[in-house]
Amino acid sequence: MDGAVPVVLGAFASAFVALFSEASARADTMEAVVLDYALQCQGCHLASGQGGGDIPSLHGVGRLAQFPGGREYLARVPGVTNASIDDARLARLLTWVLERWSSDDLPGDFTAYQAAEITNWRTPLPNPAAARAGLTADP
Ligand code: HEC
Repeated sequence: MDGAVPVVLGAFASAFVALFSEASARADTMEAVVLDYALQCQGCHLASGQGGGDIPSLHGVGRLAQFPGGREYLARVPGVTNASIDDARLARLLTWVLERWSSDDLPGDFTAYQAAEITNWRTPLPNPAAARAGLTADP
């Protein structure tokens, strides 16, 4: 029975290490996306996400994803397509922005943006205002 205590302790230790590294991996991803927001979006949309002047607020903007074409619109505004990060990071950043400030406004079936979608849509809309107006207009 002498061996039992170290074995049990060893199991606790590895569970603890696994938990800890999972949490710190999540923290790394979290910090990376916060930094991406700071460098790619915050200069215009501000740290609060509220924009100002000609810059729209990002609060509640996820409601646009409820309209046909809305998911694409959100990915194709120039500030998004022109961000200087790769498609996978941009997918994560845009998803984070929408979940952070639009969690109550996103469609119920909303799923995270995938890198491949961003790749497909990474050309800026020629006329974002017209595209936005078209989303909510009656067909
Ligand atoms: C250079 C300033 C600038 C930067 C940087 C910028 N945006 Fe924007 N954003 C705008 C402007 C201006 C609009 C309005 C549409 C247009 O004219 O481009 C907009 C529109 C949007 C919209 C649609 C809002 C609506 O109500 O229709 C979203 C979503 C958005 N931006 C997200 C982002 C994200 C995410 C980033 C960072 C990756 C970002 N933007 C970076 C200026 C910027």
